[in-house]
Amino acid sequence: MSINSNIVWQTYKVNKAHRSEQKRQQPCVLWFTGLSGSGKSTLANALEQRLFELNHHTYLLDGDNVRHGLNKDLGFSDQDRQENIRRIGELSALFVDAGMLVLAAFISPFRAEREMVRELVGPGEFVEVYVATPLSTCELRDPKGLYKKARAGEIRNFTGIDSDYEVPENPELSIDTSVLDLDEAVMKIVEFLKSRSILKEV
Ligand code: ADX
Repeated sequence: MSINSNIVWQTYKVNKAHRSEQKRQQPCVLWFTGLSGSGKSTLANALEQRLFELNHHTYLLDGDNVRHGLNKDLGFSDQDRQENIRRIGELSALFVDAGMLVLAAFISPFRAEREMVRELVGPGEFVEVYVATPLSTCELRDPKGLYKKARAGEIRNFTGIDSDYEVPENPELSIDTSVLDLDEAVMKIVEFLKSRSILKEV
């Protein structure tokens, strides 16, 4: 018997449609995946600023920050990364239900977990943004000095060095930050969101 067999789902009078309408927006999760140093957080930050200026209701979830709180009990084994993404997926789905535009920036190295998050929200509500900056560029940038430590064997299971990254097969968007500058990348995402009517043309 499941430990949850005595729990019944509650239906609320105020639902996602009401909350979205009140906020005048189409909620979704913008899921940024890519290697450490690929530019996920920088891009998500700049996009959130742009969406905020456009009067949207947003929330940014970021690997480094969430691992200080909700997921501070998790490390970087495959199993812990799966649990990291499972929790973030559930959290993102709640924020989408709240009517928000969620920006989630996590390495999220495995396809299965990214697809699991896609299934947690409604059709069209998951936008996968593959931040496709090559490993060589990420390693050159090395903003936190972690690649250097990983190469020296001081950090184990580092993505791209001794831990896998599964490239998205059909992302809604692919952005290589070694080719596009920040403004261009933000514009590309905004145009995509308009084309899907997630953002309205102004
Ligand atoms: S994920 O793989 O579980 O999705 P997440 O995005 O939450 O990773 O956290 C990645 C961040 O943790 C990196 O940007 C980096 O700063 C830090 N980090 C520390 N150790 C590792 C590691 N072994 N592999 C990757 N990132 C690590």
